[in-house]
Amino acid sequence: MAMDSDFSLPQAERSARQAAGHWILARAGKRVLRPGGLRLTVRMLHAAHIQGKSVVEFAPGLGRTAKLIVSSGVGTYTAVEQDPAAAKRVESIVAACRGKVIRAKAQESGLPDACADVVVGEAMLTMQGEKTKEQIVSEAYRLLKPGGCYALHELALTPEEIDPEFAADLRRQLAETIRVNARPLTAREWGALLENAGFIVDWHAAAPMALLSVKRNIADEGILGVLKIMRNLLRDRELRARVLQMRALFRRYRRSLEGIAIVARKPQE
Ligand SMILES: C[S@@+](CC[C@H](N)C(=O)[O-])C[C@H]1O[C@@H](n2cnc3c(N)ncnc32)[C@H](O)[C@@H]1O
Repeated sequence: MAMDSDFSLPQAERSARQAAGHWILARAGKRVLRPGGLRLTVRMLHAAHIQGKSVVEFAPGLGRTAKLIVSSGVGTYTAVEQDPAAAKRVESIVAACRGKVIRAKAQESGLPDACADVVVGEAMLTMQGEKTKEQIVSEAYRLLKPGGCYALHELALTPEEIDPEFAADLRRQLAETIRVNARPLTAREWGALLENAGFIVDWHAAAPMALLSVKRNIADEGILGVLKIMRNLLRDRELRARVLQMRALFRRYRRSLEGIAIVARKPQE
């Protein structure tokens, strides 16, 4: 089986100043790249009842959730990932379980109608503009069989009554620091996005946005993973500066951001 180190990381050719925040965290050694952490992912997959089902995962990134999905006895697994280096890694993780990876944008997956019982997507809708968010949610709806469900895990703004000017400024700072067009929504706005596409929200849960807290990293990456991250950061000044900048922003806005997971159902016809 191929080792993690056998693959180059996405955006490896970019300097630590330029690369997108999630690939900076991957360069530092992180493998769990979603805001509510692995525990929220596990709760979401449990609520989506994936055992024995045909599962499509949008944007698997480094394949941490892909590993969880294929090891929980699903019927079939297909990923849709736009980044070639990430897609190659995920292929190596799911190949043993006859999983497939399609290199495409989630909004144009090329997969047939009603091919999935469950569509999963984490930390990928937040980074899209309004129109692309709608296109991706519609694509999930098209891929699902009636009664199937869409499980997503994204970044939410909180509370619901957040001041619009404050929220706009927070989005601007996130985009500037992460170098990704991060556009989180409130829980009600995420629900409305799904309902406007025809989904019924069945379940949701939240967890603190603690992507860069030590406690969360011990839970998500393990002690050895955290030691590896610390070693990588000590060795690379530019990488350390980017990670510390992101950490400072996440800490400053910890009361206004959270990880949200939702399971939404496509109604029976
Ligand atoms: C923050 S990472 C999250 C990776 C993984 N889902 C996780 O939670 O650890 C974002 C991922 O979304 C992928 N991505 C972003 N937009 C996409 C799109 N429109 N279609 C497919 N993949 C996309 C990126 O290539 C990257 O792998």
